[in-house]
Amino acid sequence: MSALRAQVEQPVRLFATSREAEQLVAGILAARIRSNPASVLGLATGASMIGVYRELARMHPAGGLSFARVTTFNLDEYCGLAAGDPSGFAAYMDRNLFDHVDADRRRLHLPEGDDAGPARYEAAIAAADGIDLQLLGIGRNGHIGFNEPGSQGTSRTRVVELAPPTLAANANDFPTGVAMPRKAITMGIETILSARRIVLLATGAAKAKALAGALEGEVGPHNPASFLQQHPDVTVVCDLAAAAELRNIPKIENSHA
Ligand code: GLP
Repeated sequence: MSALRAQVEQPVRLFATSREAEQLVAGILAARIRSNPASVLGLATGASMIGVYRELARMHPAGGLSFARVTTFNLDEYCGLAAGDPSGFAAYMDRNLFDHVDADRRRLHLPEGDDAGPARYEAAIAAADGIDLQLLGIGRNGHIGFNEPGSQGTSRTRVVELAPPTLAANANDFPTGVAMPRKAITMGIETILSARRIVLLATGAAKAKALAGALEGEVGPHNPASFLQQHPDVTVVCDLAAAAELRNIPKIENSHA
């Protein structure tokens, strides 16, 4: 499919507030789990996802949403952290979602940055028959997972060096005085594009430039999220602030309509 056609077909769902956008994304994930309780989900971290996971955790007891048969694969993880390090994405997932739902720990996967880690992760995803629905955020420089600018569309799970803007943006995850890792393991662009459906959540003004470049700019490694134009089933959910630089501005939706 041409990039242009994919772009035209990609629905961008715009909400006035980040909270409404997060609720819609949580609703999409919940609907997927309800239609197939054994779904394979690709999960993301970052501040943008906290409201999504809070809503899913609320739906677990309130709406009878069960994670017992769900398999998950997180996009990325820092290299070199001790198991259980509170700054790591494994601890983030426990804190924000897994500790609050009935997930089966044996089905929850995060990549590990040892030498054999990338191949092991790709094999585990393949053994699960691939990812049904991949949740994505976007970095201020257009990164998806930790695929920084310069990442190729053919990249698979690998260890990468973090770019200076990412180190700066994520420094707050680490206590003062603790050096943050400069390397991480991430699914590659091609790994992400292998998911059958992708949902990208972008909220806040800091994402406006990267989002416009991803959806309306040229496809290429300068903006890794632009490769999403090559996927046939991407839903982009954003708030007004993140949509500020889109030229083809979508109509604002009301999540309660
Ligand atoms: C992080 C993660 C990404 C995430 C992005 C945006 O570093 N590796 O998966 O989407 O950067 O994070 P935030 O939502 O905090 O802006």
